[in-house]
Amino acid sequence: MHWTKRIAACAISLFLGAVALTAQGQPAPASTPHQTATTSSANLQDWWKNAVICEIYPRSFQDSNGDGIGDLNGITQRLDYLKTLGVDAIWLSPIYPSPQVDFGYDISDYENIDPQYGTLADFDRLVAEARKRHIRILMDMVMNHSSDKHKWFEESRSSRNNPYRDWYVWHDGKGETATEKGEVPNNWQSDFGHSAWEWDEKTRQYYYHKFYIQQPDLNWDNPKVHQAFKDIIGFWLKRGVGGFRFDAITTLFEDPNLTDDDVLKDKDGKPFLNAYGDVALNDTRTNNLPGTHPVMQEMRVVSDKFGSGGFPGTRVLIGETYLPNIGELAKQYGTPDKPEFQLPMDTQIGFINKLDVAAFRAKLNDAETQLGSNIPLIVFDNHDNARLDARYGDGVHDTDIQRVISTMLFASRGTALFYYGDEIGMKTTPPTRKEDVKDPVGLTGWPKDKGRDGERTPMQWDATTNAGFTTGTPWLPVPPTYTTVNVKAEEPQPDSLLSWYKSLIALKKDNPAFAHGDNVMLDTENTKVLSWMRKAAGAPQVVVAVNFTADAQTVNLTTGDAGVKAGHAKTLLKSPGGTDPASLDKVELGPFGVYIGEVK
Ligand code: GLC
Ligand code: CA
Repeated sequence: MHWTKRIAACAISLFLGAVALTAQGQPAPASTPHQTATTSSANLQDWWKNAVICEIYPRSFQDSNGDGIGDLNGITQRLDYLKTLGVDAIWLSPIYPSPQVDFGYDISDYENIDPQYGTLADFDRLVAEARKRHIRILMDMVMNHSSDKHKWFEESRSSRNNPYRDWYVWHDGKGETATEKGEVPNNWQSDFGHSAWEWDEKTRQYYYHKFYIQQPDLNWDNPKVHQAFKDIIGFWLKRGVGGFRFDAITTLFEDPNLTDDDVLKDKDGKPFLNAYGDVALNDTRTNNLPGTHPVMQEMRVVSDKFGSGGFPGTRVLIGETYLPNIGELAKQYGTPDKPEFQLPMDTQIGFINKLDVAAFRAKLNDAETQLGSNIPLIVFDNHDNARLDARYGDGVHDTDIQRVISTMLFASRGTALFYYGDEIGMKTTPPTRKEDVKDPVGLTGWPKDKGRDGERTPMQWDATTNAGFTTGTPWLPVPPTYTTVNVKAEEPQPDSLLSWYKSLIALKKDNPAFAHGDNVMLDTENTKVLSWMRKAAGAPQVVVAVNFTADAQTVNLTTGDAGVKAGHAKTLLKSPGGTDPASLDKVELGPFGVYIGEVK
């Protein structure tokens, strides 16, 4: 599995002022690890270093023409909303022409727009309108596989001698004879269930697919594939995109020896079965192979060559990098001579999936101390995982818990990525009947895994029919919560989750300790409250305390070596009903309460 099932995020910053034209990918000297990080108002070149990025699932954000499917013109209509929130960049899940088996992650033409979402002219208008608001558009780049309807694959499967044959991963079956097809080449499995090999009767070989059968893997041992994607990236960079999110990037390469993956066993030696009823495998032969690094170095050269594209600052490469530990994540940034991603996602933090203080302290501290001068990209949620309520909520304090989560997201050092709808507290709403399922994962996995529809429901804008998403029939039902959980209802309420997001994002940009200060953990033995300090030279220190429990807690932030010395603080933000502490040795927090204060 390259992603952990069930998880969302968005990122922002302004392009005012100017400074620090640090060469891209050049870690700062070890002695000043984080001081080159930007402040929103003070660094154009490195805009992405303290940014807020929002992932939009275009199908579900805003429909503009009444067909029930979100589209590009719909997103353009909602840009002012994103700007008010403080978003610097939008990552769009794929909008290219696609048979939509995997809702766009099966691409049949990399240089066009699917008519469901609009036209290239609509896209250009979106980019231009976003730019007026200082928002960059980031494209999803799917390089591991194409659609089986892409002309490359149609050529490839047409004959063994076709020039495109070696653009994909073809192998003979085991024990094949002139009349009998062989068995699958090995035990490798698709992340979406069952064998990763599909027999092609016409040319009598198997092709490999890490994902759906309709998503054949491209062959990255073929230099022509590299060139094709460099051209595609150039096509979009020329059109003014701010960068890319590279899909499933750790899955580009497979073991050339076709060694079987190891079976995962419990302590009694019995194999585990996954939700698809298959024996669970550890996919070390098809995931995180070293070949990805030179590929990303090549892509980075192309991206850097294009410069800023009319915006201040560089284009940014983001990676979908589910990796086992911080050491593996650190490698994704490349080296000063051979940079790769600026922002590989740190999925270690946001997908802990339970409110465990020690685990968050350890993982946030890893991101602070183990990545050198590189910037962590923190993310808690996306279109592949159940929303935050399902992974962190308790059904009673969900809004307070969302404050806890968003504080870790926006008040830690780094770039923050949030998933549309999390800012208003949208809830996971999976289908209740198999016949309603749209994501094939849910059909294969039913009922154990109901698929990803539950986190892809339409954005809840207001309390009118279909939550203001469409005048037609929405492609996925609007969750019943929309009458109260919606943008229009939350905007005027100072205590709403939406207002909390806005305040946190404003602090992230405007407060110098938040914008570029180091992250230092406080009160590090506490198992109920996570506390930390942000400190930047020449700026007042800021303390953050977050209660992970449903009981009131009191914390002392002045203990230990790292403890703050001064006793008083000016409150910058606190949960509704929270108190202003008289002294930092006695900070009182309500259930799942958050306190943020500037040390005096
Ligand atoms: C990534 C995408 C997911 C997609 C898969 C195959 O994990 O986030 O939605 O199904 O890759 O492209
Ligand atoms: Ca539409």
